[in-house]
Amino acid sequence: MTAAPPPTRLQSGHASETAHLTARARAADAVIEPDRRLLGDTYAHLFVTVPPPTTSEEALDRLQRLDSAHGGFIAEILLRQRYFEDLVALGVEAGVRQVVLLGAGYDTTALRWSGPETVRFFEVDHPATQTAKLAALTAADLSSPVTSVPLDFTAGGSLRTELAAHGFALDEPCIVGWLGVTFFLPPEACRATLADLADTVAPGSLLLFDYMDESVVDGSSRYEGALQMARQVAEQGEPYINGLTPATAAATARDAGFEPVEQLRVAGLVRRYGGTDPYCSDDDFMGLVTARRVGEGASGHGD
Ligand SMILES: C[S@@+](CC[C@H](N)C(=O)[O-])C[C@H]1O[C@@H](n2cnc3c(N)ncnc32)[C@H](O)[C@@H]1O
Repeated sequence: MTAAPPPTRLQSGHASETAHLTARARAADAVIEPDRRLLGDTYAHLFVTVPPPTTSEEALDRLQRLDSAHGGFIAEILLRQRYFEDLVALGVEAGVRQVVLLGAGYDTTALRWSGPETVRFFEVDHPATQTAKLAALTAADLSSPVTSVPLDFTAGGSLRTELAAHGFALDEPCIVGWLGVTFFLPPEACRATLADLADTVAPGSLLLFDYMDESVVDGSSRYEGALQMARQVAEQGEPYINGLTPATAAATARDAGFEPVEQLRVAGLVRRYGGTDPYCSDDDFMGLVTARRVGEGASGHGD
């Protein structure tokens, strides 16, 4: 008989440290001078326990040191967010009025939202992280502009039931971001969450998710910085346990009822958003899938 794996950080009731890591990267990036910063998340600093740098030079130095140890992560973390926000803007322009973030962490898309007030944001996350996020907002005297939906993707609850109970319109299209999450879920929980999502969102809805290459999860990647990060997050109680490839990521989406419309790797993100002199490298061990919920019905997007 094999021993049960130790409880993860979240199962032990502690907020996600990897969500904190991504917020730290965004908070440092926000300090960089405007023409070199990659995102500009002016609220990320509210969620970090390590003070962000105070000058652009210091911020660049901190992020470039991290990038030289773990190339590819800075680009992926900051630029997947740019891509997601572009997707939201396009969807809203086409009439979509619901945005869902799965495993939202310390995301601040809604706090920075300057589009129509009729757009509603739903954030689904493990209760341990969500509680910490709401506490940080309260400490900063900010009320949350989102509808918070606590849910553990590994505990057998229903996304459809929980979102609907919190006012999500099941018959209206939405944009869904599932960023930085799939690789922390057991493969069966990842597939079950996708199937649940397909059962929740109206046809025409768009989903963006990212994935970690299988080679990082099984230890065969040629990117030593990625393997080191894998060891670090495992020590913190959030191991990467679910690896995919561009082909299996697309197939996983398709199997659940989402048709891929675009697939990007980190290098593609850097080419698209990095400007002429990006301060980060584009090591190639993660990818993104944008996919549309197939079927008949309301769609905010032309085909
Ligand atoms: C790396 S963070 C990403 C956060 C945010 N999406 C971002 O891009 O910064 C991983 C997020 O997934 C959430 N998560 C991990 N496992 C989960 C689970 N079983 N159920 C719900 N959320 C989970 C964590 O709470 C955390 O917010």
